[in-house]
Amino acid sequence: MFITFEGIDGSGKSTQLELLAETFREAGRKVLLTREPGGTALAENLRKVLLESNVSAQAELLLFGAARAQHVAEVIKPALDDGAIVLSDRFTDSSVAYQGGGLKLPADFIDAMNQFACEDLRPDITFLLDIDPLAGNKRQQLNHQKPDTIESRGLGFLERVRQAYLQIALRDPHRVIIINAARPLASVQCDIIAALQQRGGL
Ligand code: TYD
Repeated sequence: MFITFEGIDGSGKSTQLELLAETFREAGRKVLLTREPGGTALAENLRKVLLESNVSAQAELLLFGAARAQHVAEVIKPALDDGAIVLSDRFTDSSVAYQGGGLKLPADFIDAMNQFACEDLRPDITFLLDIDPLAGNKRQQLNHQKPDTIESRGLGFLERVRQAYLQIALRDPHRVIIINAARPLASVQCDIIAALQQRGGL
């Protein structure tokens, strides 16, 4: 089973991913926890370039695509073939939301790029941790997290990203489950586990 987590920064994705990985491990399942951009040597290098330097919008999209193609081929597919549950912090929807919604790059091209990078692989379930950008921002400050280049594009950018995510969920309600992330950690965790139980994933 391949599960992805999506949402704007400060939605608490990473914490929930760790908690869910632990829940699966306690249930005796083999788990691979990974993230985008990242997960492979190539992608970790690209991550540095992407998050620390100024690249054009087009180059940014293609670099995310390159990182994803390597991540799928080198890490995700082999782990799934090996029977692991793969949990990824971000995946294809991040490009649709950030580069499509946020940067307004053409949706058709992003879809084609994602398909090319992933071949036939799609997440079985995606949790969209939805939060208002202002609330997300506050949470990040509380956790003393410094925004990276992409996160520093302002509230208008993040609001477009959020709306693009909600559109993805509307278009694909069977795969994408919207979770209200503006609540205490334990409530969010309960909803995620309940949704997985309902689908026979736990
Ligand atoms: P990261 O530090 O992993 O953010 P977070 O921990 O909040 O997930 O940085 C990832 C950044 O890259 C984040 O701002 C979103 C952005 N991103 C894109 O813009 N497009 C993409 O396709 C991906 C995978 C990430």
